[in-house]
Amino acid sequence: MSDPEEGNEGNGELPASSLGTKEHWDNEYARELEVFKEFGDIGEVWFGYDCQTRVVNWIKESSCISLESNIIDLGCGNGSLLIELACSGYTQLTGIDYSAAAVELAKQIALKEKAKVKFLCGDILTDDTIEDMIGQIDLVLDKGTYDAISLSPNEAKTKRKAYNESVLSLLKKDGLFIIVSCNWTQDELKDQFSSGYVVLDTIPSPSFWFGGNVGQTTSTVVFKKT
Ligand SMILES: C[S@@+](CC[C@H](N)C(=O)[O-])C[C@H]1O[C@@H](n2cnc3c(N)ncnc32)[C@H](O)[C@@H]1O
Repeated sequence: MSDPEEGNEGNGELPASSLGTKEHWDNEYARELEVFKEFGDIGEVWFGYDCQTRVVNWIKESSCISLESNIIDLGCGNGSLLIELACSGYTQLTGIDYSAAAVELAKQIALKEKAKVKFLCGDILTDDTIEDMIGQIDLVLDKGTYDAISLSPNEAKTKRKAYNESVLSLLKKDGLFIIVSCNWTQDELKDQFSSGYVVLDTIPSPSFWFGGNVGQTTSTVVFKKT
């Protein structure tokens, strides 16, 4: 997801990118919505279906999460992850995204798939949208959203901190947080979410060899709120 432009480098932050702006996602999902209306193509599933299925399978096997657990996907995009969960029998599903076009796309796909998911438009860092859900969530999901926020051309570090606070405030005690990132390693995620959580698990993703080292395409960590 790196599309370096300016800023951020040299201060431990990711290089700034248009992927860290609302304008980018508004344009992207407006285009994907038109394609869906015309051809029925649901658009980009970030990190691919295999990654999504690995997360869904982990949830299905987890004794901490039931079909009635309150689950929210932050920066849900086209809602594909939640729709797969709905099709697997999960009933309390909410997706939130600050792109109105993404929310509209997610609603239309859910309707077509007969999947019962609530989709809300709002900024998870600043809006009142999440106020009603404070302390009520059993499982927070994030696939690519913390990455996007980390690429923000301005105040990325402050936004990452606000994100962390939003997740913690949403979760019940002992609630889970599953994050999938392509820009941060598992160790970096564990470090950045060290306060208020314990690491419950990691979900392996395909690895590759490069320059004599093993790398991973994505990092997925499961945290539990303490
Ligand atoms: C890389 S995409 C991932 C979309 C989706 N999670 C997926 O896996 O396909 C990042 C998403 O985060 C959303 N997003 C970024 N910052 C946000 C914020 N502050 N509040 C709500 N949504 C945000 C974008 O609109 C976009 O849909």
